[in-house]
Amino acid sequence: MRAPDRPDGNAEAPREAPVGPAEFGRGELTPRDAAEFRGLKRMIHKRAGLCCDGYKERVLRRRMAVRMRAKGVQTFGAYAALLKQDPAEYQRLIDTVTINVSKFFRNASTWVLLRDQVIPELWASNHERIRIWSAGSAAGEEAYSVAILLLQHAETHGPGIERFDILATDIDLDVLEQAKQAEYGPFVFTEMADPTRDRWFEGPKRNQLRSEVKKYVRFDTLDLMSAEFPAGQHLILCRNVLIYFEREVQHAMFKKFHAATAAGGFLQLGKVETLFGAPTGLYETVSARERLFRKV
Ligand SMILES: C[S@@+](CC[C@H](N)C(=O)[O-])C[C@H]1O[C@@H](n2cnc3c(N)ncnc32)[C@H](O)[C@@H]1O
Repeated sequence: MRAPDRPDGNAEAPREAPVGPAEFGRGELTPRDAAEFRGLKRMIHKRAGLCCDGYKERVLRRRMAVRMRAKGVQTFGAYAALLKQDPAEYQRLIDTVTINVSKFFRNASTWVLLRDQVIPELWASNHERIRIWSAGSAAGEEAYSVAILLLQHAETHGPGIERFDILATDIDLDVLEQAKQAEYGPFVFTEMADPTRDRWFEGPKRNQLRSEVKKYVRFDTLDLMSAEFPAGQHLILCRNVLIYFEREVQHAMFKKFHAATAAGGFLQLGKVETLFGAPTGLYETVSARERLFRKV
């Protein structure tokens, strides 16, 4: 028999089939759990501004279950009640749902392609401004990796870097704050070569990004689910973000990315993401292996 889980201590009516949070990522929900889950999503949208509808339901349920276990509650309804009493928990929930793990030069082979093909082509172009957008940037690791590549390219190719404009956006205000500080823990360096780290980071732990790199990236908050996309992009990196979204949302986003891309511009997805469901004819594949596409 399920223990009472309402914060006021009153027992709830018995459920059709008791399921603990560990089960919420799997299988079907009971009608009651499903109704509570919908109510919780509405509440999070209204009170914390996070529209959960586009996220894959199983992923969302699993992530929420992480917080529910941490708080020792058994049902979505009990978690909703707890959120009302503990507003700080919203931020922890959002951090968990929008999981923001990143690394410098994550998936090295992708960065080799960007370094050897995309950046030289953009550099050689005659665009007055060359716009690069890291969408779902986490704490800036991806956008700063681009800035490092540009600085390294400038060493052999002379002037030109001033034409580049790198924008990094995320829904999560905390990670954007970390991005501006640009001081990192050891995890983010595991795919970065030591000489690169020595070159562009300083401080006793070599974990503070140098200001000469920082100055090339500007950060802004942007919810990919609801915001207008910044137009005229020559390279959009949206890696390891779309995997969390439902197919139809991905489909709509590919269209928006396409509209936001300048003629011939590139779209770089994450290693496990595909353009599946994207309206055909919008992009051509530059590298299927690296998930690099180009607007046609
Ligand atoms: C796993 S990280 C990916 C970071 C980086 N792009 C990479 O590949 O290393 C996913 C990021 O997407 C952000 N995100 C999740 N939902 C979002 C949304 N609706 N709008 C904008 N960013 C979102 C999260 O806050 C998180 O920082």
